[in-house]
Amino acid sequence: MKIAVGSDHVGYELKPTIIEYLKELGYEVKDFGTDSTKRTDYPIYGKKVGEVVANGEYDLGIIMCGTGVGISLAANKVPGIRAVVCSEPYSAKLSKQHNNTNILAFGSRVVGAELAKMIVKEWLDAKFIGGRHERRVDELGAIEDQNDKEFENIEYSQSNKYKD
Ligand code: RB5
Repeated sequence: MKIAVGSDHVGYELKPTIIEYLKELGYEVKDFGTDSTKRTDYPIYGKKVGEVVANGEYDLGIIMCGTGVGISLAANKVPGIRAVVCSEPYSAKLSKQHNNTNILAFGSRVVGAELAKMIVKEWLDAKFIGGRHERRVDELGAIEDQNDKEFENIEYSQSNKYKD
């Protein structure tokens, strides 16, 4: 399992701890920058990590900025990316189980190192459960493709299959 990591200068404060933790857990990790607390722009790193996850070079991505918001917005602009910003482990776990998120984001100004590690662990351990959630993730893809026909067909063909 290969994980791409990235941050801006604010997220950088937390990044070395997270990289070390990922390595301890046995993951192969590559850091796509930034490499210091010198001011830079979060879209650069959200885009980079988004691209290597979307093209399959890396299985998953973990990104950080001050809040996790800016860098997750950037990653979500890359087609194929479903990035979630989390400040607690419950949403992190459910975002993988239900939404099949492929990038996790959090903020170095929001969570401390131990909470961040807990969020990371819950997210990495969780698996997409498919079923009724598969249709919804497919619908997200259809929005991204701006394909209304595809969206409607997904809805029409399967909408009565599931209750919740
Ligand atoms: C940088 O000041 C800050 O705006 C950035 O790290 C991030 O929090 C943006 O969403």
